Amino acid sequence: MFTILLFIFVLIQNAQLRPTFDAKQHLHTYGFLNTSNPGEKVFKDAIEKFQSVNELPTTGTLDEATIERMKARRCGRPEHVPAFAQTANKWKNSHITYKIFNVSEPFMKTEVKKIFDDSIKVWTDNVNLKISETDSNKADIIIHFTTQDGPYNVLGYAYYPDNGDIFFDKDEDWTLDVSQGAFKTYFGWVAAHELGHSLGLPHTETMQSIMHPYYSTQVIQPSEIDTKTLRTMYGQAIMNNSILCEGTSVDAILDTREPLLVVGEEYWTISDGVLQSGPIRRDVLFPGLPDKIDAAFMVGKRSYFLSDNLFYRFDHDAKPYRLISKKLISVGFDKVPPNIDAAFYHAGATTIYFFKGSKYYALNTRKPSGKRLVVNGKDISSDWPGIPTDVEAVTLTDNSQVLFIKNSKCYMVDLNTRVLLSTENCSTLYNC
Ligand SMILES: *[C@@H]1O[C@H](CO)[C@@H](O)[C@H](O)[C@H]1NC(C)=O
Ligand SMILES: *[C@@H]1O[C@H](CO)[C@@H](O)[C@H](O)[C@H]1NC(C)=O
Ligand SMILES: *[C@@H]1O[C@H](CO)[C@@H](O)[C@H](O)[C@H]1NC(C)=O
Ligand SMILES: *[C@@H]1O[C@H](CO)[C@@H](O)[C@H](O)[C@H]1NC(C)=O
Repeated sequence: MFTILLFIFVLIQNAQLRPTFDAKQHLHTYGFLNTSNPGEKVFKDAIEKFQSVNELPTTGTLDEATIERMKARRCGRPEHVPAFAQTANKWKNSHITYKIFNVSEPFMKTEVKKIFDDSIKVWTDNVNLKISETDSNKADIIIHFTTQDGPYNVLGYAYYPDNGDIFFDKDEDWTLDVSQGAFKTYFGWVAAHELGHSLGLPHTETMQSIMHPYYSTQVIQPSEIDTKTLRTMYGQAIMNNSILCEGTSVDAILDTREPLLVVGEEYWTISDGVLQSGPIRRDVLFPGLPDKIDAAFMVGKRSYFLSDNLFYRFDHDAKPYRLISKKLISVGFDKVPPNIDAAFYHAGATTIYFFKGSKYYALNTRKPSGKRLVVNGKDISSDWPGIPTDVEAVTLTDNSQVLFIKNSKCYMVDLNTRVLLSTENCSTLYNC
């Protein structure tokens, strides 16, 4: 109750402090009007356009919700109506540099650098673009904290390439803690958003995108939509498959839409049955995993990594994926033993298959706890003829084939008939 009263009080106070909010100027600034002195009809149309892209009722009048939206926290770049989603320039080099010129209270340079580097990791994941810090004043992107419009409304501004410079509003009530992001301004959103402009991305109308002009504490990192656009602009990360072609053993395959082949602390992406890009640092997507993992699989929008006697579960709602639990395998999966070699999930049968040494286990996730283990340590050779013991990795492909890997050999099995379809050197998969 007190919070609501306080909120109303703040609203009234704001209204008193700024009784004449200049909506025409605002619409002009953000590209909804080409003049700050429009006729009545043009003004009404601009209000409607503003309301429509902001998912407000298109009344064409300056109602309270519309003015609230105009005063909300946002990026200082205009929307460029009518060419709303016009594409900007891009950097010509695939390695660009940034320099933090200055920071303002309450930040230290190291904190700003940390948030920036975290954001860079997500932006450049699987993109043929490297961004690193430099001391030189010739840096491509120079970061400043300057006076802009005082607290609230404009939080920052960034130029497109070949300029790329970023200006944060030094008068915001900044925080590095997203949980305080409702009342204070979470720096991570502004950093990720402005960096997007610096790399050449315009605003989008999609709420799920970090490039939406308005501040949000829901979308705080570049999403799939954003990194996909960047990948289209700069191309995929270049592939270096030499260690795989030399016969390095594989730890796991995670069956995301583009499966990830995990080796040590790095991964490669697979698309259409062939390696596409990598190596990419695993912690870019999955922060919090141990050095060595044994197996990985996905159930719905959750990924599971097994390591020794533990499993790590990640939620895939936003990048980087969020580690939501770390538990004993024996707790999460009935009597499945530790130190599993490989695992995959068959959604159609709600069954997870685990392989260890010469045995395999099958766990039906639909059954009540304690009764899920429908196959408890049966010989691999009896149900998967032709598959060796101690496999390195396994995954279920789109066409109901199970791919096992061991010693750079790829074994393809029909999931339903369990017939061994082929045994090949993995050099085809690895694109050697
Ligand atoms: C401004 O926009 C209106 C339509 O909204 C158009 O008729 C007019 O020509 C534009 N003026 C300039 C200078 O672009
Ligand atoms: C940072 O440098 C800019 C000049 O680029 C200056 O205008 C601004 O006041 C400086 N900010 C702080 C917090 O010192
Ligand atoms: C490819 O990766 C190997 C290590 O795995 C490294 O020694 C080599 O320099 C890399 N090649 C290129 C072109 O980056
Ligand atoms: C797979 O093929 C590569 C050459 O493409 C060869 O060097 C390697 O020895 C082969 N591996 C096996 C297990 O046959």
